[in-house]
Amino acid sequence: MGRFFNTNAFRLAALYFALFAASVLTLFAFFYLSTAGFIEGQVEQTVGAEIRGLQEQYEQLGLAGLVALVRERSLNERVDNMIYIMTDPFLHEVAGNLSGWPQRTTPVKPGWITFPFEVHTPHGTQTHTALGTQLIVGGDRLLVARDLRDATAFRQRVLSTIAWAALISLALGIVGGLLMTRQMLRRVESVANTTRHIIHGDLAQRIPLTGSGDEFDQLGSNLNAMLDQIERLMVGMRQVTDNIAHDLRTPLSRLRSRLEVTLIEKPNTARYAEVLRETIAEADQLLGTFNALLSIAEAEAGSRRDTTTTVDLAEIARNVAELYEPVADEKGLTLVINVPDTLPVRGDRHLLSQAIANLLDNALKYTLAGRVSLTVGRDGNSARIEVADSGPGIPPDRCDVVFDRFVRLEGSRSTPGNGLGLSLVRAVATLHGGTVRLQDNNPGLMVVFAFPAAPVEPLRASDARPAA
Ligand SMILES: Nc1ncnc2c1ncn2[C@@H]1O[C@H](COP(=O)(O)OP(=O)(O)O)[C@@H](O)[C@H]1O
Ligand SMILES: [Mg+2]
Repeated sequence: MGRFFNTNAFRLAALYFALFAASVLTLFAFFYLSTAGFIEGQVEQTVGAEIRGLQEQYEQLGLAGLVALVRERSLNERVDNMIYIMTDPFLHEVAGNLSGWPQRTTPVKPGWITFPFEVHTPHGTQTHTALGTQLIVGGDRLLVARDLRDATAFRQRVLSTIAWAALISLALGIVGGLLMTRQMLRRVESVANTTRHIIHGDLAQRIPLTGSGDEFDQLGSNLNAMLDQIERLMVGMRQVTDNIAHDLRTPLSRLRSRLEVTLIEKPNTARYAEVLRETIAEADQLLGTFNALLSIAEAEAGSRRDTTTTVDLAEIARNVAELYEPVADEKGLTLVINVPDTLPVRGDRHLLSQAIANLLDNALKYTLAGRVSLTVGRDGNSARIEVADSGPGIPPDRCDVVFDRFVRLEGSRSTPGNGLGLSLVRAVATLHGGTVRLQDNNPGLMVVFAFPAAPVEPLRASDARPAA
């Protein structure tokens, strides 16, 4: 419970309750002030009218007439609670239904007074308060007043009604505030519970959503999206470590056992040299695999740290092709290069050139005779790199798996490679917001690497065409 009072939700509820209570109390106070005086106002009007009427009578009938009138009005038990008292200048009673001029009068406003008086009932004597005003005729004084019993009762009724209403509203306010706070805390608690599970290692947990689309749901779905992303990255990372464990352990242990066997054999310098050469070649291949894995990881992480700049894709493609020309010559393949003068795009120079190199490497490696072509160009708002060959191609049902890490098709195992080339190509394409598609080249394979590339200013526009 102590924790509950320490929460922000509780503080918020308390603040709202204070505001609510203040407005309820203000409202009721206003209500009381504007209704409680109502009956007093009516008494004032009645008494005022009566005294004006008596004054008119005095003007017409004179003092004797007025005295007769007051006497007549004081005679019976009055149901309207009117009080009359008329005295001479020395306050000796002349007429009226009050026993003597009141002793203790309190002025309430100009011309008006209140005073206590005694009322005799079958249950005893009670003191009531009356409100009245006086008229002076010649030297005599006339006081007309009315018992405020009804007004007092009304005022008390209003007061107790308001007190009850205020009490009930405030109680409802407290209960509502507590319920609201509890509800809010429950939602926060569910987020806290989920995160606790995740902290303890259960990354599959997700924050339950109510489907109302409110702020808590939005927060929850954002956190869930974040957890999805983290899970994806973790799975990717686990895949890399698994790959390293499975696919690098075998060549490493092979390498180690060969060295061990050689050491046990009879010492032989020529044999040693041969084994060392083999070991170096195998170490080179291992290094290549490591580098490829690192490049893929770099490309996959690249989306989070922008390494793209404006680069000339045509120049990159030409440089890579130049490196592979000797390979093509050696195998007796024709390498056709179809690249424009310049093609400025935003991209990562190093990763783009590695992707093109991997594609050319595959085309030249798996094609035994015929031609390989590299075409680079712009197609609307996207840049395209096409590498086509006349080799064996890839069967349509294998087109997806060849992009997975370490996948090499049957029949390719005799050629050197690690099965990571196309994985890197895809990672680079994804980094650039693009795609890689494999197509039948009839015969052979065509790889289309396309990524969005809005036209950009060339790198050195002024240097490209010197003004002369
Ligand atoms: N141009 C191509 N022609 C035929 N098969 C290809 C071609 N490119 C790739 N492949 C197939 O896809 C597999 C995966 O390619 P890649 O990821 O570059 O690995 P690697 O070249 O190291 O084997 C290759 O082993 C090969 O079987
Ligand atoms: Mg390859």
